[in-house]
Amino acid sequence: TVGKSTNILWHDCPIGQNERQNLLNQKGCVVWITGLSGSGKSTLACALRRELHIRGHLTYVLDGDNLRHGLNRDLSFKAEDRAENIRRVGEVAKLFADAGLICIASLISPYRSDRIACRSLLPKSSFIEVFLNAPLEVCEARDPKGLYKLARAGKIKGFTGIDDPYEPPSDCEIVIQCKVGDCPSPKSMADQVVSYLETNGFLH
Ligand code: PPS
Repeated sequence: TVGKSTNILWHDCPIGQNERQNLLNQKGCVVWITGLSGSGKSTLACALRRELHIRGHLTYVLDGDNLRHGLNRDLSFKAEDRAENIRRVGEVAKLFADAGLICIASLISPYRSDRIACRSLLPKSSFIEVFLNAPLEVCEARDPKGLYKLARAGKIKGFTGIDDPYEPPSDCEIVIQCKVGDCPSPKSMADQVVSYLETNGFLH
């Protein structure tokens, strides 16, 4: 599908990203949360949306699980489909950031190369990668949807962390550490990201 469009021209308009950002008192960006299933990505996304909203900032959450009910319903969990999943969500996130929003994307996004490709879609510094570093042991003990149990029983094949890889980021903007018996609360995880956004001039 990529690279098939021909004879197309870019159309520009004088009201651009700067004008939208000025209206919103913020700088559009993508906060990309990566981590294992059950690491708390959606919980962090939700807490972050809340913290930003109460400060008067406009956000939009793109959640991997939810998008697989619509935009990405045709994709499986094999590596090529995960790559296409990340590519599509990256493109959508880029549009939201261009609209001036703080776009929060929460997807396992297990492959480093897919996340790097996503980063390259956005202007430098506008892609903020957050690694929710919860060990498999913690995620599996939580097992909020019972999927680890099914994967261990061989009823789900290619489950991330069990029989499919997860490549942790080697160089990301924010790492949130969660250890056995010691995981930060949703609010304190969100505060860590809010403070990064404040320090780096995304919130005016
Ligand atoms: S990915 O890897 O980024 O394309 O995955 P994502 O779009 O974020 O979707 C992850 C959710 O799908 C459910 N699920 C699986 N996850 C991993 N591996 C396999 N095989 C799988 N099958 C279903 C699971 O509920 C994930 O949700 P989260 O919120 O991450 O727990």
